[in-house]
Amino acid sequence: MDALLELEKAMLGIFLGIMIAIFISKLRRKQFKLPPGPTPVPIFGNWLQVGNDLNHGNLVDFAKRFGHLFLLRMGVRNLVVVSSPELAKQVLHTQGVEFLSSLTLVCQLVTGNGQDLVFTNYGEHWRKMRRILTVPLFTNKVVQRYRFGWEDEAARVVADVKANPESSTNGIVLRKRLQLMMYNNAYKIMFGRRFESEDDPLLLKLKASSWERIRLTQSLDYNYGDFIPVLRPFLKGYLRLCKQVKDERFQLFKDNFVDPRKMLVNTRRVDNDSLTCALDHLLEAQQQGDITEETIFHIVDGLDIAAIDTTLRSIEWAIAELINHPEVQKKLRHEIDSVLGVGVQVTEPDTHKLPYLEAVIKETLRLRMGVPLLVPHMNLHDAKLGGYDIPAKSKVVVNAWWLANNPAHWKNPEEFRPERFMEEESNVETNGNDFRFLPFGAGRRSCPGIMTALPIMGITLGRLVQNFELLPPPGQSKIDTAEKRGQFLLQILKHSTVVAKPRSI
Ligand code: HEM
Repeated sequence: MDALLELEKAMLGIFLGIMIAIFISKLRRKQFKLPPGPTPVPIFGNWLQVGNDLNHGNLVDFAKRFGHLFLLRMGVRNLVVVSSPELAKQVLHTQGVEFLSSLTLVCQLVTGNGQDLVFTNYGEHWRKMRRILTVPLFTNKVVQRYRFGWEDEAARVVADVKANPESSTNGIVLRKRLQLMMYNNAYKIMFGRRFESEDDPLLLKLKASSWERIRLTQSLDYNYGDFIPVLRPFLKGYLRLCKQVKDERFQLFKDNFVDPRKMLVNTRRVDNDSLTCALDHLLEAQQQGDITEETIFHIVDGLDIAAIDTTLRSIEWAIAELINHPEVQKKLRHEIDSVLGVGVQVTEPDTHKLPYLEAVIKETLRLRMGVPLLVPHMNLHDAKLGGYDIPAKSKVVVNAWWLANNPAHWKNPEEFRPERFMEEESNVETNGNDFRFLPFGAGRRSCPGIMTALPIMGITLGRLVQNFELLPPPGQSKIDTAEKRGQFLLQILKHSTVVAKPRSI
């Protein structure tokens, strides 16, 4: 009897909850002129209709039904999706300050409430971080200082691939060697350190923890806690795992980089410019009371993911496309040979003299955009966009992949054709000068790492193509370019085996 009474009470509670939700949603609809979108149901909004997997491809399907600006109610959260260059310009540039923040549940979890640079809200902390990190990371001086290191790392890749007999016969997973290169490129700047081999035990630990960190942020598991906050208690297991991964990563950074660096600075003055690294700047900011040690870990953790994986994946995509389009590969090799001379190894300054190389990189970033929805933006206050009201704290997503692949704006966008950037799209740059092409975002929160990512891509791809003929593995006519889509990253599903036949020069 008691149990029946309890059940009745629970049913009544749920019923009242639904009525209140309907009432509130009606009130809200009266106040706001909201963008179009599928009709939401109480509590769940559109969540049950649209599913959990909000990748750029699914959002294209919604844009086709509801237009360039639509709203999905995901539980209590508003997800506003923008799919036209004009609206992207409003969000990222014209009204950029309104839509500058980016903190969502998963980001809060892994970044200690936004202590890093990538996922922090717009405000004093973000400005401070950008100020502290600009000198050691994001200027042309940094490129000029580190480019010899990048050239050297690329030369070592070429030498190692040549020395491996498997490369020219059965093929190798080239990505593995390129991953070592990318760690070295990034860790030289951040910590003044490099790894000698792919099997270095510390590197293996870093790679494993970074993979887990990416898997957790890319996962869909946490969405329901973000969409319906009362469900957060059910996320305990996920939260525990996030904390565990974060703690492990911090310990790795502390024991292997931060503490040893502190010792070095204390025992030997590192005031010689050629010895300093980005960590020294962070430690100095800590000494001056600008940031805490915890913030240092969050920054290092965020940069590690933002810098290494994005650039590596873009190189991996470019290699796959060059193999699947041998005529493009041949044309690129011809350009390098004729501009530099056969056998003269590509350097950073050379990358500016090789327009076809630049076009290959742009075309890769267009078709296989690594961060297809940019970093989610958010408006802290009520805002207006495209004639509609955007309620405060909406997650505003720019579908940058669709901007760059919409046939309404591009000629045969599904084709990998670098020539487009030398012909009909020759004025389009990677820096966001055209709102149809935003691989690094645009405006104040655009990617500052563009400064280093582009030369590293240019040097690496240039050296590979001038030293090897890159081919699919025996028995295959093409590399499998199936995509693994997610809410942050566009990844290649299978890391390809590549045959790299040394050229006889
Ligand atoms: C091909 C490689 C890369 C791609 C495709 C890429 C892409 C992006 C994108 C799309 C954003 C968000 C922009 C927005 O929401 O408006 C971003 C932000 C960011 N990226 Fe990159 N990135 C790359 C490499 C790098 C590198 C090498 C670094 C560091 C050296 C880096 C550091 C950052 C940081 C710190 C932010 C956050 C900036 C802020 O919120 O103020 N990225 N990146």
